[in-house]
Amino acid sequence: MKWVELIEAAQKARESAYVPYSNFKVGAALRTTTGKIYTGCNVENAAYSVTCCAERVAIFSAIAAGERDFLDMAIIADTDRPVSPCGSCRQVMREFFDGIMNIYLSNIEQHTKIVKMKQLLPFSYNDDDLS
Ligand code: THU
Repeated sequence: MKWVELIEAAQKARESAYVPYSNFKVGAALRTTTGKIYTGCNVENAAYSVTCCAERVAIFSAIAAGERDFLDMAIIADTDRPVSPCGSCRQVMREFFDGIMNIYLSNIEQHTKIVKMKQLLPFSYNDDDLS
C-alpha cells in the first residue's frame, strides 16, 4: 500500500470525529510493520481537557490490539497547511515510534508534508540525542 492510501484511511476516519465543541475534525491512520492499519479521530468532551486527539486514539487502539511495531502514520485535518500534531501527541508518538519513522502531515486537499518523528520531537525524553 502506498502512503497516499494511508492518508485516505486517515481521511475516512476523520469523518467519525466527535467535535461538538471545536468543530475541528482530525483523522489519523497508523500502519504496522505487518501492514495493518489502525485509525483514529478526535473525540471531544464537555470537560474539554478530557478530549483525546485523533493521533492518540489511533495509537492507543493499536497498542490495545497488541501491536508494537509501526511503519508510518498519516494525520489529516481541514487546515490551510498540513496539520501538525500537538505536544502531548508528539510525546505519545515518540514512546512507540523510532526517530526515523515517517509521519505524513496532510490536509483535505492532500497537500502533504513528510516529516520524521525526530523532527517533530527532537531531544525527546527517551532519546539518545544528547549523549
Ligand atoms: N486535535 C487533534 O485531534 N489532533 C491534532 O493534531 C490537533 C488537535 C483535536 C483536539 C480537539 O478536538 C480539536 O482538534 C481542536 O484542538
